[in-house]
Amino acid sequence: MTTDTNRDVSTVETDAPPDSRLEEVLDGLRRPDRRISSKYHYDERGSELFERITTLEEYYPTRVERALLEHRMPGWIADLCPATLVELGAGSAEKSRVLLDAMVRSGCGRAYVPVDVSADFLAATAAALREEYPGLVVMPEVADITEPLDLPSELPHPRWIAFLGSTLGNFEPHEATSLLTRVAGRLRSDDHFLLGVDLRPGRVKTVERIEQAYDDAAGVTAEFSLNILRVLNDEFGSDFDPTGFRHRSGYDVEAGRIETFLVSIRDQTVTFPGGHVFDIAEGEAIRSEISSKYDRPTIDGLFTDAGLAVDRWIEDEDGFYALVLGRPTR
Ligand code: AVJ
Repeated sequence: MTTDTNRDVSTVETDAPPDSRLEEVLDGLRRPDRRISSKYHYDERGSELFERITTLEEYYPTRVERALLEHRMPGWIADLCPATLVELGAGSAEKSRVLLDAMVRSGCGRAYVPVDVSADFLAATAAALREEYPGLVVMPEVADITEPLDLPSELPHPRWIAFLGSTLGNFEPHEATSLLTRVAGRLRSDDHFLLGVDLRPGRVKTVERIEQAYDDAAGVTAEFSLNILRVLNDEFGSDFDPTGFRHRSGYDVEAGRIETFLVSIRDQTVTFPGGHVFDIAEGEAIRSEISSKYDRPTIDGLFTDAGLAVDRWIEDEDGFYALVLGRPTR
């Protein structure tokens, strides 16, 4: 993150020098409430496991968001006629096609800028999209979305910046605010920000239902969570034994978020090169992810702090998930 006042060790700078990446991981593990930044989930295996999660019956966010996009975006896009779509954390651009189809059909679409940390993934996605949308200029940007957002300067207006999948939920509130502030800073008055967010429990949506989405019966989520230890071993040469931990997650009603922990199933010692040793007791937990859930007031608050205002808000009839269209206020 770029806020210099921020000393939260859970904040990790991806294009920071390797040494400071290691330092941040070590700092997180040294805390009494140990933690690892959730961004370390996404090596190739982690990305595959997340793709599998999105197909699980228990994991409703992807499904509900997709249905909302399909039913509602063609109308919004016909209305507002965006010429450019910038998509943060584009991945395989699966849901982007819904937006791109509508942009092309309405005759508005000119350019698509998928932004992702994974260069390989992005190159493959861009090549496929150029074939599928010959009328569209596709300009992939390899970038970490937690870093300042560098966009090609000539992108046609109006522009939409989209941040889907409720990925915002992985960020602490202060991190979310700085991300949204950077987004707002890129928007002109006729541009919009499209955000997908998972919602808090409500009339129909139960805590149990949310918790099941993060602890599926087939154990894919547990595998996804534990994979983070393998990723650390690969990058930093640590010697975590993933079989020495189990996945535990639960919804914190106060904080309005799922918190996921890796719980040590025995007393064990983990060593990082350079002689950094961690004695982890049986039952001790390392927090590996937060997945925040939102409601209208929390989004209004985040948007206000970032210089955004909610233009349109839609959710499915059971209140599981929302798509929010924001505009800049300054
Ligand atoms: C990709 C961050 C949106 O928090 O729901 C899914 C990741 N973790 N199951 C989420 C995830 C466990 C997911 N996001």
